[in-house]
Amino acid sequence: MNTPEEWVDIRGEFDGIVEINKVYNIDCLELMAHMPTDFVDLIITSPPYNFNAGSSLKNKYNNLLRDNLTQDEYYEWSVKVITECMRVAKLVCWNIQLIAGNKEALLRYIGYFNKNIRDILIWDKQNSEPAMSEKVFNSEFEFIILFDKNGGGRKIERAKFARGTVSNVIRVFRMINTKKDESIRKTHCAVFPDLIPIKLMEYFTDENDIVFDPFMGSGTTIINAIKYNRRFIGSELVKEYYDYAVEKIESELSQYKLLFSTSGQQSATSKRNEDELSQYKLL
Ligand SMILES: C[S@@+](CC[C@H](N)C(=O)[O-])C[C@H]1O[C@@H](n2cnc3c(N)ncnc32)[C@H](O)[C@@H]1O
Repeated sequence: MNTPEEWVDIRGEFDGIVEINKVYNIDCLELMAHMPTDFVDLIITSPPYNFNAGSSLKNKYNNLLRDNLTQDEYYEWSVKVITECMRVAKLVCWNIQLIAGNKEALLRYIGYFNKNIRDILIWDKQNSEPAMSEKVFNSEFEFIILFDKNGGGRKIERAKFARGTVSNVIRVFRMINTKKDESIRKTHCAVFPDLIPIKLMEYFTDENDIVFDPFMGSGTTIINAIKYNRRFIGSELVKEYYDYAVEKIESELSQYKLLFSTSGQQSATSKRNEDELSQYKLL
């Protein structure tokens, strides 16, 4: 089980060995190259969307990251990353939105990986920003594509839920989307809500499983892995985002340590989960 002693320092110094319960300021492809096959139980991630391809809009990542590949470049890069994700993980949850900057590439790699796609979930945002151009729909949902190197049908061996109990739509009450936007967007503008990793971990993992987010961003997956007693690994290329995520993860851990020292692991974990879930009662 996770104990606070295991989290002395979460900043991973990469020396060719990937450690568990560490986050790395590194290109995820470099990190994954040093992971054995099936090293982690689940990947929950959201890659850069190639938002700025062919656009004169302000860079989504404040110019800290190149997010304007050509469709061909973005396709080649995505195929490389997804292939590597499938190798190191038993299941990959890949969150992406169809936008002008990735439409051709995304539809092309969905075709390329058709045998490896077990299913596609919808994240229903229940609100949308107005489209950037005339004659374009406002976008109110995103995909969560489930990749599995073993191919096959829609059955997911790792699924923890009983037949007939879980929808393939994850609805996030609009106030929760908005609340998170306000507090974090100032530093990182492409975060997903906590409910996304919470639900995916609930569907596909047990306590103590290893959850990896190759595109960690502000640390949403890692923070929720800690809250729900999963082990974690994260990578983030941009130093500014990495430092921000580390700060947030450390603050999460210090709260957990405090609860742990006063009430022990069992009650610390359940107290945290009660607090967390109380915000979703509106759903
Ligand atoms: C869509 S955001 C992820 C946001 C995250 N889900 C959250 O809730 O904060 C994608 C992140 O991937 C990072 N990134 C881009 N290329 C990367 C790479 N090759 N390796 C690791 N991180 C990368 C970006 O800097 C960005 O923070």
